[in-house]
This record gives sequence, structure tokens and C-alpha cells, in this order.
Amino acid sequence: MSNKFDEIKERESNLLCNTYGRYPLAVSKAKGCKLYDLDGEEYLDFLSGIAVCSLGHSRDDLADVMAEQARQLVHVSNLFYQEPQLQLAEKLLSTCAAGKIFFSNSGAEANEGAIKLARRYMRTVREEDRYEIITLEKSFHGRTLSTLTATGQTGPIKDGFSPLPEGFVTVPFGNVNALRGAIGKNTAAIMIEMVQGEGGVRPLPSDYVNDIVALCKENGLLLIVDEVQTGVCRTGRFWAHQHYGIVPDIFTSAKALANGLPIGAVLCSDEVAKGFSPGSHATTFGGGGVVSAVASKVVDIMLEEKMAERAFEMGSFAAEEAEKLRAKHPDKIVGTRGLGLLFGIELSFPGNDVWKSLLDQKMVCNLTQGTILRLVPPLTIEKENIRTFMASLDSILETIEI
Ligand SMILES: Cc1ncc(COP(=O)(O)O)c(C=O)c1O
Repeated sequence: MSNKFDEIKERESNLLCNTYGRYPLAVSKAKGCKLYDLDGEEYLDFLSGIAVCSLGHSRDDLADVMAEQARQLVHVSNLFYQEPQLQLAEKLLSTCAAGKIFFSNSGAEANEGAIKLARRYMRTVREEDRYEIITLEKSFHGRTLSTLTATGQTGPIKDGFSPLPEGFVTVPFGNVNALRGAIGKNTAAIMIEMVQGEGGVRPLPSDYVNDIVALCKENGLLLIVDEVQTGVCRTGRFWAHQHYGIVPDIFTSAKALANGLPIGAVLCSDEVAKGFSPGSHATTFGGGGVVSAVASKVVDIMLEEKMAERAFEMGSFAAEEAEKLRAKHPDKIVGTRGLGLLFGIELSFPGNDVWKSLLDQKMVCNLTQGTILRLVPPLTIEKENIRTFMASLDSILETIEI
């Protein structure tokens, strides 16, 4: 690594709050499925900015939409009616059974909005004092005070931030009885991810999801699905909940929705939308002209180019290739799992050295929960790229001592 990298590292530590454990890589350019460092060295991207640049990096078609809209109207605020926001809403609503949308600026903010909507719907429409949200262990819902409280993880994400807001309960993953036992007279909603991404790429089993839906019905609770990571074709359907044939009362989106520009969305039924009224929830930037125009184009491309089908096909291919590796290294790979191109390879030992060796071989991916290599490449990834990645992983597993 050149001393240009050391310089940038030093400047970063002098300038920015120390919140990120950064990869030892400075990216100067990104195009398609490739990243380039300060020396112009090329890396294959199996992370896509953590499931964000699903259509690949630095696309000319999206740059054109961005530039054109920037010359027409960038921002006026939500005090005004704006066409790009409505076009995006029409397109998104055509992909699902929801009836209304609220636009925000990030995943955490979308989840914060979903929590607020669930509480307000219960209080103002159903006139019941229900506010508690039940979430699952190892879930990840964001880093605002409410969403980090909803998050079913411990450690630095929560340490030092007390008092945390009231009204959140976390139950063990996969245990229906624990979930049933946690429901009380103040419970408003159960909030889940269809595949826990940060939590180790864990798809929820279908039976479990059916039980959750049944518990919601029996107890008059809302079902909130966090699709921040799983949505917008990542898992092989436009929305991951569509694999399960369920209709959430509220679900959220962010990450891939504008292929790299900040956006979030809360989607809900017409009934639940009655919970919000003017003044109850708002944001200055949400659904602004540029981000909405770009997100509209993203939705068009996703649908026209059948990216969900592509994610499913490439995900199946990655699964087959990873299974071959597991058969070859049964002592080192415990399992492979995922949905579409949200894919995990679980190692039998702490994976930091493997992850670092992959980076040395110019393969970028993520290590989550200490042992799981999480692959979330652009959905435009080719089979050849997947083969290259697996060959690198194979060579590393051949030599690594455990
Ligand atoms: C499932 C899920 N929910 C919420 C978030 C938070 O999104 P953001 O970082 O845009 O606030 C993330 C981010 O990784 C996520 O994976």
C-alpha cells in the first residue's frame, strides 16, 4: 500500500470522530462491480457499499438523471407539491400491496418513522394504549436512539447511551413461545427482517414467519418488516416479504433505493397510514427532487432489466459454488445460507484473517458476527466474478491454519 494511503489514514484520524473500524483501503473510483484504490489497483466488489449500489457503481444513466434534475429543481422542502416524489411513489406502490408512502433519508430514519406510525395508529385510530415493539435477537434496525433500542444486539452499539427509550422488547430468534409470552396489553407491533443481514445472514424460516403473522392477527398487532437491506430486488423478489406470501402492515426501505444517494421510505396500508396527520411526522430533505428522480430511474431499471430474477439466478449460482467449497473444506466452512444475492458463508473459526486475505487478493466483502463472510455484490455481478471470488476463497482456505 502506498504512502498516499498512510497520509489519508492519518488525516482521517485527525479530522473525523472515531466511529468506524475502516477497511485498510481508500477508494478513489468505482465503476460497475469494480473499486479502484489510490494507486489505480482494481478490486472486485462483493459488498456494493453494504447492499446499496445494487445496479453497479457510477452509472452514466443515473448520473444523467441526477444532473438533469439538479438543473431543474434540487430542493424546495415538503411544504410544496413535487412531481418527482409522486412519480417515485407511484412506481414503488406498483411493486407491492402497500397503499401509502412516507419518504425519509436513511434506513434508521425509515424505521424510526415506522415505529412512530405504529404507535400513533394505535393511539389515534384504534384508541388503544399500545406502544411496545417486539423485535428479534441479533436484529439490526439502525442507530437512532429508538432503532438502536429495537436492535437485538449488545455491545458498543448500545453501551453508554442510556437511558434508552422505553417500549421495546427483544425475544430469542425462532422461538414462537417466547414471542407469544412477550405479547402484552401494551404491545403495538412485531418488527422483523426477512433475512437478518448484520445478524449473520439468517433468513427467517417460513413456518416461523407464518406463526408471527398468526400471532399478529390473534392479538391485533401490526407487523413491521424492515426491508432496508433486503428490499429492491436484493433477495430475488422486489421485496423479500414477497417470498413468504405475506403483506406487512408497514415495511421500510432505504439502501439500494437510489443506488447510492441517501433515501429511506416507510410503506404502509391505507388503514395504518391514517395514524399520521399533518404535523405528526416530517423531514426537510425526504423525497427531494434529485433523490426521487434517481430512485424512480432505479425502480425502472430494476423492473425493466428483471434484476430480481437476476439476483435469484446469481444467488443460486453463488450458493452452488459455495457448497462445492464447503464439501472441499468441511472443517472450515460450517454452512452457507441466504436469499438471492444476500449470501453468507459461515466459517468454523474467527474469519478476520480470511477476510483480510481476500482483501489482499483484491476481493472486497464483509465479515459479520465474527465468522460469517457476507456477500452482497451488485446485482449486475457476473458468474465469472463469482467464480473468481470462490477461487480466491478456496486458495485461502487451502493454506490457512485453524
Ligand atoms: C436491516 C437494516 N435496518 C436498518 C439499517 C440502518 O440503515 P441506515 O444505516 O441507512 O440508517 C440497516 C443498515 O445496515 C439495516 O441493515
